[in-house]
Amino acid sequence: MKHVLINDSIVPEAEAQVSYKDRGYHFGDGIYEVIRIYQGAFFALDPHINRLFDSAEKIDIALPFSKQELVDRLNVLKEKEVVIDGSLYVQITRGAAERNHLYSREEQPILFGFTLPDKSNEANETNGISAYVTEDIRWLRCDIKSINLLGNVMAKRKASDHDCGEAVLYRENAVTEGSSSNLFLVNNKTLYTHPANNLILNGITRQEIIAVAAELGIDIVEEPFPKEVLAHADEAFVTSTSIEITPIHTFKGDVEATLTLGPITKQLQQALKKRIKTQTSASV
Ligand code: PDD
Repeated sequence: MKHVLINDSIVPEAEAQVSYKDRGYHFGDGIYEVIRIYQGAFFALDPHINRLFDSAEKIDIALPFSKQELVDRLNVLKEKEVVIDGSLYVQITRGAAERNHLYSREEQPILFGFTLPDKSNEANETNGISAYVTEDIRWLRCDIKSINLLGNVMAKRKASDHDCGEAVLYRENAVTEGSSSNLFLVNNKTLYTHPANNLILNGITRQEIIAVAAELGIDIVEEPFPKEVLAHADEAFVTSTSIEITPIHTFKGDVEATLTLGPITKQLQQALKKRIKTQTSASV
């Protein structure tokens, strides 16, 4: 039987209930993380926990538990569900209250978590995907990992309707990120990605790749670049906890181009896999 985490309890999925007054349900008033589990161990757990606490602070939610208490609860859920390869979704909403735009600081935040089995992304990692280039219509605090993802889900649907696996977004002509991923380009052996500011989510995978690239001696430029640059890229890929490093072979939509799956992407893929293996086998 599947179990989920609600606040400090692990309960059977069938008994899991959320109030219709939950502010997450009314306003998208909450935050979340997706954390990968490899060989029974969390990958990059501390950065995910830190980002969740940062997001909470940015939206003025005072958490009634410490980072360690949260980690303990997530570990209990992982053990209960016996996840070997998969991921854990954790969200915190501001709590349940009468519907009112004005939130009170007295509400009790609601913690919710569940695990998911691994969905293999191997074919995409090997063969690449098409990406649909479209305008970024989201708000100006994309650095917060908010559960309010309307702009993201609309972009993802649009991409899928054009037979693309991801949307690549641009704001005022500068490429920001994917609908649920960060975007990197390779040009003349240099790696380019948008800087970690309010216009993108500073992905944990993005940060791991920047560290890996530095180790490999690959130059990295964290600066905005115009969408037209996509058409002339040597290589391009999107990254996230779920898809690791997934190459892009075709851009459609507002930029049209065909790319080859190049050596730097492959090198980074291998180095990231190695890093994941080392870190997850060290922590079990
Ligand atoms: N999304 N940018 C956006 C908008 C994202 O939604 C995500 C991840 C990322 C990459 O972040 P990370 O490397 O920390 O996973 C960037 C998750 C996986 C999701 O919503 O399912």
